[in-house]
Formats: sequence, structure tokens, C-alpha cells
Amino acid sequence: MNDFNSIPSHVWPRNAVRQDDGVVTIAGVPLPEIADTYGTPCYVIDEDDFRSRCRDMAEAFGGGENVHYASKALLTATVARWVDEEGLCMDVASLGELQIALAAGFPAERITAHGNNKSVAFLRAIISEKVGSVVLDNAGELELLDELSAASEHIQDVLIRVKPGIEAHTHEFIATAHEDQKFGFSLASGSAMEAARAAARAENLRLVGLHCHVGSQVFDAEGFSVAAERVLGLFRQLHDELPADELAQLSVLDLGGGYGIAYTEDEEPLNVRAVAADVIGRVAEVADQLGIPAPSVKVEPGRAIAGPAAVTLYEVGSVKDVHVDEDTTRRYVAVDGGMSDNIRPALYGAAYDGRLVSRFAEGEYTTTRIVGAHCESGDILIPEASYPNDLGRGDLFAIAATGAYCYVMSSRYNAFLRPPIVSVRGGQAKLMVRRETVEDILALENTGEH
Ligand code: LLP
Repeated sequence: MNDFNSIPSHVWPRNAVRQDDGVVTIAGVPLPEIADTYGTPCYVIDEDDFRSRCRDMAEAFGGGENVHYASKALLTATVARWVDEEGLCMDVASLGELQIALAAGFPAERITAHGNNKSVAFLRAIISEKVGSVVLDNAGELELLDELSAASEHIQDVLIRVKPGIEAHTHEFIATAHEDQKFGFSLASGSAMEAARAAARAENLRLVGLHCHVGSQVFDAEGFSVAAERVLGLFRQLHDELPADELAQLSVLDLGGGYGIAYTEDEEPLNVRAVAADVIGRVAEVADQLGIPAPSVKVEPGRAIAGPAAVTLYEVGSVKDVHVDEDTTRRYVAVDGGMSDNIRPALYGAAYDGRLVSRFAEGEYTTTRIVGAHCESGDILIPEASYPNDLGRGDLFAIAATGAYCYVMSSRYNAFLRPPIVSVRGGQAKLMVRRETVEDILALENTGEH
């Protein structure tokens, strides 16, 4: 049985430790102090953890210019500044993400724009702000971007998003390289080749590379290499067709994100360094076999940078023993957040690691379910775990690896207020984003008569 009082270092932030008095600290800041100052629920992010994962990625892939942080995982102006200071590039997937990155002073030329249905306003902003590159998703968008660029006398660097036809072993909603899904141009049908030709021909577009993304939370490292090999086949075809000046610009193979992290103690994060070495080696080898220059490999990790850096801190409220059947009683422990601050268990069946963080737990282990405080029975954060039975009202409970896809997917269900994000570093806590207030919600309403 797992020891509930341990803090598994491969799941929790790098600077999380349980002290001798049982209190968990992150970067030297005791979590109960954060609860006192900022209230609960609260996201707590270990700044050095986030930054060190940026650096690890840059090292693994040969420099920050090859790593685009996928800002959809977690984006605030502060996070954008961290990414900038660590020398990485950034991906945005909407006008809003672009605006936040630019507001933080993130250099536009180091941004890549994504999206399967980019709005005209987004495309116009990409052009006027001189965003580095655009990953094209469909033929209509290709034409539109060419037209808009022409109207602004602008030449836009583009990549073609290729669907390489790989079945990534992850949840259906986050697997993106198989045929029957909305993203990109199909390799198998020839439409990716057709798009690449069209982009190369387009007067106001400059085809700089090909892109693919096999999925998210991927552990099967082979998927990245197989996708790379397939897309390299397209590079080969383009080498046969395109004139030398066009080919000279075509130098990027962007393999997207997807590096799996450990959410629970029994999972192991993907070894990014090993995967990077493997993929880069394979690209060089296959390019050589195909007789083409090896493109530079770029990646777009989101979760693997932001995910493990944060925890969500809750206070325990009601505890209830539910008689399930003759032999089973399940203890329901309710915390003061839930599906509004972390929709992932309800949406993907995602598993998490939760621990008591304000003291040592001492009770007998019992079958426990951690639920939220929303008016919905599906509001479950951890469906089943064996926890000591002394968890009770007023205890602080934290769920780890909530840095990615939690704050950014949060909602106001039941008019719950979005929690603050507090960053910790060197023994100091700093408010990154304040808690929402009811006034914030009411301020959106039209209070006029119509
Ligand atoms: N690049 C592209 C083109 C993507 O679509 C994504 C994720 C990434 C990079 C970053 O993937 P990552 O390294 O973070 O796995 N909401 C889901 C995840 C959706 C991912 C969407 N695209 C979740 O909570 O698991």
C-alpha cells in the first residue's frame, strides 16, 4: 500500500517536501500559510519547477528556439514572462492567448499560431503583430491568410499541419493524429501534399515547415518517431517538386507536444531527454536515407512543463460514510472546490494523487472518494483511494500535477469563483492571479433595461 504521508517526487513539484511536523512546503513555503493568506481552493505553482522544466526541454531539443511552450496548458502574463526569460518560444491557439502573450511583452516573432478555425480577427492580428509563424489547418484558411497577407503587403511564414495517421494511445478526446478527427491535412489522402504545394505557390505565404502532433499525455515514445518518419516522406516528395529557392526555406519539422507526465505514484513520466535524442537521431537517419537535408526538429510541450509544477490546495469540509452494499462502505470526503477548478477527472476520467498537507495522517486506511462541492454527483476528483480515516473538517488536502489544463479549463459552475494562482520561490509566496469575486461576475452583466 502507498504511504499516504509520503510526497512522491515524480508527481509533485520538484520543491515540495513534507517537514518533520507533517506540514508540506513548496519552495520553502508551508501550504497552510498559503491557505491562511490566500484562502482555498488555490493553485500553488513552484516557479523554479516550471522554469527548470523549460530548461530541461531546451537542453533536450538543442536550444530554446526549438521548444515552443504550448500556452494552452497554462497561460498568464507572468507565465509568459517566465517562458520568455527561459528563452523558449511559444504556441498560441487563439486570439486571446496571443493577446495575453503580447500583453506580457512576449516577442511576436517567437510565437507560432495554431487553431483549426482561426478567426479573421486572429489572422489579422497575426499579420499586424508580425507573429513568427502560422500552422495552417485547412485549405480555406490557407487562401484566406494569403489574401489577408497580400492586403497588408506582408509575407507570412507558415507550416502545414499534417495528420500522419497514428493511433496515439491516450484518451480519444486528446488523440489528434488519426484520420477521423478535425485537425490538419491528411497525409494518406494526399491533401497534405496538395496544401504544401499551394502554400509554396501562394505569393504571400512562405512555406517553412511541416507540423504534426500525435496527441497529448502520450507514453508510447515510438509514436513520435513514426510520425516523424511519415512526415519526412512528405519532405522527400516536396524535394522532388519544389524549386530550389522554395526548398531553401523549408527547414522545420515540428512534432508538436504530448509528453506524458506522472499523475499518480505508479506512473512514470516520459523521459524527454531520451525521446528527444531518439527522435532527433531518427530524423537525421531517415533524412539521410531519403537523400534530403535533415530538417530542424521543433516541439511544443505544454503539460510536461506546466503540469507537475502546481498543486491545488483545498480545505476538507464534510465527511460521510456511504453504505454501498453489504460489504462495502465508502468514505466521501468533500473539499471546497471540484469540477470547476479541475474538470479533467469528469471529462477524461483523469486520475490524480492527493495528500493531506497540513499534518501527518494517522488513521486506519479506508476506501475513500474525494469529491467536490458542486451540485452534481459526477463532481468527483479522486474516485477511489485508500486513505487514513482521520481526514476531517479543516484539514488541508492538495492534489498534485494540476499545473496544466486545470486553471485554463476552469469554470464558474455554481457561481464558484475561480481560485487564485500563487507562485512560490525561495521561501516567498507571490499572488500571480487573484481570486475572482462575485463583483467580477456581476460586472459582466448588462444592468440596463434591455
Ligand atoms: N501542440 C498542439 C498542436 C496541441 O494541440 C497540443 C495540445 C500541444 C502542442 C500540447 O500538448 P501537451 O504537451 O500539453 O500534451 N485538455 C486536455 C489536453 C488537450 C491538449 C490539446 N492540444 C487535457 O486536459 O488533458
